[in-house]
Amino acid sequence: MNAKLKSFLDTLSERDDLKVEAKADLKKFSTIKLTGIAPVVIIKSVEAASFFIKEANKEAIPFHIIGLGSNQLLESTENFIYCKFFVPRSEMPEYSESQEFFSFSASTPITKITKMAVTHGLKGWEVFTGVPASLGGAIAMNAGTNLGEIGDLVKSVTLIDSNGEVLEKELSSHDFSYRKNLFLKKGELIVEAKLKNLGTDPEIPKKIEDYMELRNKTQPLWERNCGCTFKNYEKEGVRFPAGKYIDLIGLKGFSLNNVKISDLHGNFFINEGDANKKDFIEFIDGVQLYLERNYGIPFEIEVKTE
Ligand code: EPU
Repeated sequence: MNAKLKSFLDTLSERDDLKVEAKADLKKFSTIKLTGIAPVVIIKSVEAASFFIKEANKEAIPFHIIGLGSNQLLESTENFIYCKFFVPRSEMPEYSESQEFFSFSASTPITKITKMAVTHGLKGWEVFTGVPASLGGAIAMNAGTNLGEIGDLVKSVTLIDSNGEVLEKELSSHDFSYRKNLFLKKGELIVEAKLKNLGTDPEIPKKIEDYMELRNKTQPLWERNCGCTFKNYEKEGVRFPAGKYIDLIGLKGFSLNNVKISDLHGNFFINEGDANKKDFIEFIDGVQLYLERNYGIPFEIEVKTE
């Protein structure tokens, strides 16, 4: 590791609200558990986030933000830092019918927010059922299901900009597109978010339960994966699901270098052993080319590769 990065990590270690692991085992930081070792910094408060981003930019230290690591491929490095915003014991908002919105720390797991939706029957909140992400990560990629997308529910986010300033940004549907946000600049970090209270609907708990049941039947959620590998392709309002086309072409179950296409769902790729990021990317690139050659469909990669 170069001396500048080492000295930066040493400075960070002096704060109680930053946890530094100079040689972290990256398997702990993603659901696909790819093999790798890299510096990881856990940011435990909004103040620490502001300090970290300001200082890293001042010193020109590159960093990559990771959430729950369910949609990310991490690699061994000594040249940049992976940082993760995780506020321990962050509180859930109190429910009140008359409230226009509810505020959450960006590190709140989506599963916890879904539980709140079930308890109170929150209308529209079924759209992120089963998304294996933190709230911040889910907003950054406009995560969703075939019930809808989280972008439709976000009133505003509080983020840290590249100068370390804390800003609140009101958002609308123009700030999102399919599996993408259009408002975050590189290196900005979401630390809090407000989700809209659209009222209640007694059908919500059942909708969420049914959806989870379906998802458990059709997706290999217990295996080491990173969700859907490719985005579904859309043209002139027609959606071409990547999983369906991978299935049709007979690739389900195919494996190479410890990476396998799930037998259950064609768009889920499994780490069967000690695969690293390079093995995974080579595998994805091969499948992408094969799909394009056979169907002429340019499926884009959904999982974050940087
Ligand atoms: N299909 C097959 N074979 C397969 C997989 C799917 O024929 O191996 C068919 C299904 O029968 C269905 C169609 O393809 O007719 C679509 O499949 P599915 O309902 O499983 O949904 P998907 O389009 O593959 C999307 C999201 C998922 C989300 C599910 C369920 C994307 C890229 N994927 O998958 O999100 O969980 O809907 O709501 O938009 C993710 O983004 O990481 C993700 C997993």
